[in-house]
Amino acid sequence: MHTQEVKELLEKVAGLNQTGGNERVKTIVHRVMHDVFQIIEDLDITPEEFWNAVYYINDLGKNGEAALLAPGLGMDKYLDIRMDAEDEQAGLAGGTPRTIEGPLYVAGAPVSEGFARMDDGTQDGETMILTGVVTDENGKPLPNTLVEIWHADLKGGYSYFDKSQSEYNLRRSILTDAEGRYTAQSIIPSGYGCPPEGSTQALLNQLGRHGRRPAHIHYFVSQPGYKHLTTQINLAGDEYTYDDFAFATREELVCDAVRIEDAAAAEQYGLNKPFTKVEFNIQLVVSDKPEHQQRHERKRALEA
Ligand code: BEZ
Ligand code: FE
Repeated sequence: MHTQEVKELLEKVAGLNQTGGNERVKTIVHRVMHDVFQIIEDLDITPEEFWNAVYYINDLGKNGEAALLAPGLGMDKYLDIRMDAEDEQAGLAGGTPRTIEGPLYVAGAPVSEGFARMDDGTQDGETMILTGVVTDENGKPLPNTLVEIWHADLKGGYSYFDKSQSEYNLRRSILTDAEGRYTAQSIIPSGYGCPPEGSTQALLNQLGRHGRRPAHIHYFVSQPGYKHLTTQINLAGDEYTYDDFAFATREELVCDAVRIEDAAAAEQYGLNKPFTKVEFNIQLVVSDKPEHQQRHERKRALEA
């Protein structure tokens, strides 16, 4: 590994002896390939193991699961840990904590003011009223805040990716009302599970790990003048609330799902049967930097 021959090979591999190309990419590829070579040496990787890994990556791409494996291997969580540390250093810590986005957001969900019905009525799930107030860190309500919400159905599937669901089922964007409140009527989601025959689950099996997530609900929250928030809530009492294969659970983001039997309370939401209420209040942190006010760029379904 530490011979002149390997050193020169790595430099050529990363194009360090070429004038064209992208310097940042060269630096990253040089470091990645150096570390891969080092792993092969340190762990005495056999040719069989090496080619298994190469064809595993082929299958991962064919299955479209790279962005599913990443959170399973803690990479999304690690990026969050780094962003939390950056916020701390920049004096931007506080407010509702972030947690991973996951790979299942779809852009362009219908927008409404104050309230949205999220489910298309085809699944006979427990009715969920999901509500909360968006405020600044001092508790001042933030009207007209865009709250984007998406979650899974009773089978743990997401519309768009699960073609059996209607367009934008369980995906809505709600602008908070004059009191900063958003309210959604939907169904209590089920937890997500990795495709059992997929590449992600295949690797998790080798690690003795499951590929399950608890019942959870995703949020993007944005308001000019405030840091954009990417987060999710995990419902309390799920077998996987504290054992999420994607490492998204944070104590402050675990929400109770409270069964309400009272007819008058149901009536308040136009319902004539018991329902389950989930309350999630959100605090945003002030930032005048435009780059903080937007979600970071990544490939997302239907996003221009
Ligand atoms: C999800 O959003 O449900 C999800 C996140 C990470 C991995 C798989 C699914
Ligand atoms: Fe999810």
